Amino acid sequence: MRFLKFLLLFITIQVSAQQGGMWIPSLLEGMNETEMTNLGSKLTAKDIYDVNNSSLKDAIGHFNGGCTSEVISDQGLILTNHHCGFGQIQSHSSLENDYLKDGFWAMSLDEELPNESLFIEFIVRIEDVTTQVLAGVTDNMTEKEKQSLIDRNSNTYQKTVAKEDWQDTKVKSFYEGNQYFLFVTERFEDIRLVGAPPTSIGKFGSDTDNWVFPRHTGDFAMFRIYADANNRPAKYSKDNKPYKPKHFLPISLDGVEEGDFTMVFGFPGRTAEYLPAVAIQHITEEFNPTNIAIREAALKVIDAKMKESDAVRIKYASKQARIANAWKKWIGENLGIEKSDAVTKRRAFEATFTKALKEKGLEDKYGNILSDFDTLYKDFAPINIKRRNFIEVFLVTNELMQMTFRAYQMEEAIKADPENFEKVKARLVGTLQGIHKNYDVGVDKGVFNNVMPFYNKNVETSIYDKTAFTNLDQALKLLEGNAKDVLKKLNKDAAYKYAKPLIEDFYNNIDKEYQEKNQPITALQTKYMTALMEALPNARYFPDANSTLRVTYGQVRGYSPRDAVYYNPVSYLDGVIEKYVPGDYEFDVPEKLLELHKNKDFGQYADSNGKVPVCFLGTNHTTGGNSGSPAIDAHGNLVGLNFDRVWEGTMSDMNYDPEICRNIMVDVRYVLFIVDKFAGATHLIDEMKLVHPKTNKQ
Ligand code: ARG
Ligand code: GLU
Repeated sequence: MRFLKFLLLFITIQVSAQQGGMWIPSLLEGMNETEMTNLGSKLTAKDIYDVNNSSLKDAIGHFNGGCTSEVISDQGLILTNHHCGFGQIQSHSSLENDYLKDGFWAMSLDEELPNESLFIEFIVRIEDVTTQVLAGVTDNMTEKEKQSLIDRNSNTYQKTVAKEDWQDTKVKSFYEGNQYFLFVTERFEDIRLVGAPPTSIGKFGSDTDNWVFPRHTGDFAMFRIYADANNRPAKYSKDNKPYKPKHFLPISLDGVEEGDFTMVFGFPGRTAEYLPAVAIQHITEEFNPTNIAIREAALKVIDAKMKESDAVRIKYASKQARIANAWKKWIGENLGIEKSDAVTKRRAFEATFTKALKEKGLEDKYGNILSDFDTLYKDFAPINIKRRNFIEVFLVTNELMQMTFRAYQMEEAIKADPENFEKVKARLVGTLQGIHKNYDVGVDKGVFNNVMPFYNKNVETSIYDKTAFTNLDQALKLLEGNAKDVLKKLNKDAAYKYAKPLIEDFYNNIDKEYQEKNQPITALQTKYMTALMEALPNARYFPDANSTLRVTYGQVRGYSPRDAVYYNPVSYLDGVIEKYVPGDYEFDVPEKLLELHKNKDFGQYADSNGKVPVCFLGTNHTTGGNSGSPAIDAHGNLVGLNFDRVWEGTMSDMNYDPEICRNIMVDVRYVLFIVDKFAGATHLIDEMKLVHPKTNKQ
């Protein structure tokens, strides 16, 4: 039975209502369109992606390169997650104007807050350019030769592409380098903060509830795109005007219920769905555990200090969230892989693959792939762990080590070419200023103490009392003078002296060995993908996520995380009140919200059962980067905002299992309820288009 389920996932009959996969929006005609219809969709492939007419894709923007956002009014109003706009909300916050704590609402256009370097990018069109990019590539080239020809072909082709002056192009690899697509894009750079709920709504439940269901987080924030007088992308200017989009999403007040079709349209970051069993084992049994331990050690310090001081809380809010997020995800990923017996199932699949190779006479061509993976991964595992541990300690958790790392890069750049001095010094100054904007030496020293033992036995905490880097003025002073003086002072600095040999070892040995051992694995993965498609041509292959625009679809569904437990797919405001712990840093509830609940003052936002829905679950196959993606109903209306997955299902990055993998969305009616009833920002509601597709009310 188990085996059967697994087969269903990989080798499927194409007409049934399959789920899972992140599909290329320009290629939905045929199989995907049929599957979507079978799941209840009324949309055509052209409604979703059309080059000649406006379509849903014109409302979907890549938010700052890492999240997704969507246009929800004809005046460029944008919806994304609170955690996606967190950095911007934080940067406008201070102890006096604590927008993290109290929320922020611009009551008119001139109160909307500009954000330096924030951007939103739309996809104008997508083209298959595999032939052009792979022209001249042959099997007897080395991997390096192949890659440089691919890069050259891709650059040459991009120069010939028809596009407007203000548009850009990029080429991305799909199916592990078996296909290439070109994207013509439009990037807007004047993006202003319009509104955000208090953290007690936008991040309700914080780390305790992160990655889990039942969930009650109102994880949303609003921005607005501004464009120049011709409605084109432009740098910030007070003369810019709200952007008039090609399409914006109408918002359904009717919601969805269990079994209803949903589609999530966004920019998933990275998945690895076609790994061999040996790789899944390496990741979950060896790689994840050490990285989990390092982050846990860092969080112990950061969490404690954030609770002690509001100043530290504001400074470290964003950083803490980033560290804690992947930490908890990896734990869930390991649990899911183990619980669903993913390794055993992947081995069973590999047996099917091997059998197909035999039957099709492909053994000579591909018969060694799996055993080669075994050999390569065995050799690769220790260096992969070591390299990642370095990154976790030097670049993710400890800030002093990060500063020395950037200083080392400056030194190397100067040595390579003294002419670089001013440029690379300026870059380092920028980095140091950025870190010190939110730096607390007490926190960082504690983190150093806790994480360094995972990488280096010699933990010299005393460097904190001697180095210039823990104080911005002193650090900048160290960078005064000519190149020679600067390098001399730098090499006398206690922290730099401590870190430099470790960083040198990283560059000269660790990273080098990692690259050498990783390259054949990447090449073999490309070959494996080719082999899979040849040996099992009727399977349902979708390309791994690569931060490009994708469609994933499914239905609203609850799930059973363990024996005798079933999670309903919808949570309600009542559940927020159930979780309420007065004054708690994770589960406090704003007074106003308690009052609205008590008075049942729900406006038009309650469900037919009289309750305000907060979050709901679906079988949409999402990953990091899908945060802020719209959940769209059968008719193309916005019904929710994707922001998370359930813990048991975070393994979907390697192993999507429709039984327990669920994405978590905030119901758009909760968003509107907060905007309207809680914040009183009714002018924003007025600018949206609210519809009733189920009840046909006007
Ligand atoms: N887990 C979600 C995502 O992967 C939400 C993260 C933000 N929330 C938080 N409590 N840290 O990014
Ligand atoms: N919260 C994630 C993000 O920032 C989405 C959740 C996931 O990884 O599925 O993109």
